[in-house]
Amino acid sequence: MSLRGKTVVLTGASSGIGAQAAVRLHAQGALVHLVGRDERRTRRVAEALDAPWYTADFEELADVRRLADELMGATRHIDVLAANAGAVMPDRHTADGIDATFQVNVLSPWLLMLLLADHLSGGRILATNSRAHKNAVIGLHSLEDLARGRQGVSGHRAYARSKLAAGILLREYGRRHRGIDVGDFHPGIIASGFDRPLGKRGAVMKALARPFTDTPDQGAARLVHLASRTGPLAGTYYTRTRPAKPSPQLHSRQLGAALWDFATDLTSSRRPAPGPASSTGRHSSTGR
Ligand SMILES: NC(=O)c1ccc[n+]([C@@H]2O[C@H](COP(=O)([O-])OP(=O)(O)OC[C@H]3O[C@@H](n4cnc5c(N)ncnc54)[C@H](OP(=O)(O)O)[C@@H]3O)[C@@H](O)[C@H]2O)c1
Repeated sequence: MSLRGKTVVLTGASSGIGAQAAVRLHAQGALVHLVGRDERRTRRVAEALDAPWYTADFEELADVRRLADELMGATRHIDVLAANAGAVMPDRHTADGIDATFQVNVLSPWLLMLLLADHLSGGRILATNSRAHKNAVIGLHSLEDLARGRQGVSGHRAYARSKLAAGILLREYGRRHRGIDVGDFHPGIIASGFDRPLGKRGAVMKALARPFTDTPDQGAARLVHLASRTGPLAGTYYTRTRPAKPSPQLHSRQLGAALWDFATDLTSSRRPAPGPASSTGRHSSTGR
């Protein structure tokens, strides 16, 4: 599918895979709307492309709601949502009282997709997953653990679990929004700022992995390849650009339905009273 003239919303566009994907999408003629968290990094990438940009911190549900409103105000239709933002987070809870890893990697991307569903009708969501999801198992009766926090679980295990949960929810989303094509992919082991929040430990792990890593631009090429794939993604999990075997839980309808209810509860009980957007939200956009 040609991306020329297509509207693409790309989260995690301020660095790593996303920043390179923004350049590639723009070069293919897509109208890219860049979403980052850090204002300076996001603006730098966007200004080089003369593209509209937005910031939102996925640690704040109010920020995600504001972002969705802005995107809906700035676009008539979204052809592709590349849900690429994600991180290995330190062990902490957000202001919404939720484990930060779960909120950033699972809840906020899901909420954004949900709020943008009408705009995405007939379009596609491509999420950046990780092969790490295969190292995790989610218990149907212990979903609370996901939101409660680590409880002795390491950062990378919490990350793996969050990527599995995000993939399960993505497929449930696809079942509930038949007109929206969904799929996800592992981009490769990429030399990016990905482990930044883990500080020194992240730097050590990155140095150890260096001989086996690909560049952010290689990861970006894979993202763009799948975002523009002619046939539907149809819930497929890809490693780089090839269909791959995911965790068997990724397609579980039972877990999908349970996680959906769980995510709905978590987000609706934290819905702010109607009124002006949260003043804590760090926001900036070109307004185009
Ligand atoms: N690197 C790898 O080896 C690897 C492997 C498998 C999967 N992945 C996945 O690939 C995706 C892109 O990661 P990357 O490797 O390109 O790492 P990166 O360079 O650290 O980029 C991560 C992006 O996510 C954004 N982000 C992080 N925390 C956020 C938050 N709280 N709210 C909003 N945005 C947030 C960052 O925004 P700011 O820069 O503005 O803070 C940045 O744009 C992630 O989903 C990651 O899980 C990476």
